Amino acid sequence: FWPGRSTAGCRGIGQLQRQELQSIEDCRWPISAVYNHRMSLQRTLAIIKPDAVERKLAGRILQRIEDEGFRVRAMRRMALTQAQAEGFYAVHAARPFFASLTSFMASGPAIVLVLEAEDAIAKWRTLMGATDPAKADAGTLRKEFAESIERNATHGSDAPETAAVEIADRKS
Ligand code: CMP
Repeated sequence: FWPGRSTAGCRGIGQLQRQELQSIEDCRWPISAVYNHRMSLQRTLAIIKPDAVERKLAGRILQRIEDEGFRVRAMRRMALTQAQAEGFYAVHAARPFFASLTSFMASGPAIVLVLEAEDAIAKWRTLMGATDPAKADAGTLRKEFAESIERNATHGSDAPETAAVEIADRKS
């Protein structure tokens, strides 16, 4: 709210949203209010994988998650069975690393999370860094904590459709 600004001729935030180039300079809405309205909260599935749990890195990873502004909407420690790991990574079934990946994911407990933030899917993928820690940017979780391209500390959904399926499946 900008006191002193004229409200004459101003449109509501909903109308601004529909009129991309509407001049907001003459209105009393601060630009942050417009942007806050236009962005929407999103959820992503995140997993702290067995390699990171085994090495007692979960606390540090959760701290980074909270420091980056995510809200932890659900959290559960899960020891995946081989069948559950194979189901979760079914999209990679034809890959040469499938057997190794799924036995690694079933090798010990993981921590499964639902994270919420603006643009959570991309934000979480940025925080994780590249799949291969050798290629991950400095400061990312995988650069800091991953052991290898397979034992790479964390997982995240790659798109809204997969996030919806993974979040729905997380209890099974
Ligand atoms: P994630 O983001 O969970 O998605 C699929 C996983 O497969 C990936 O992290 C890695 O753990 C694993 N992965 C991807 N590429 C390879 C690879 N070339 N060799 C071994 N594991 C891989």
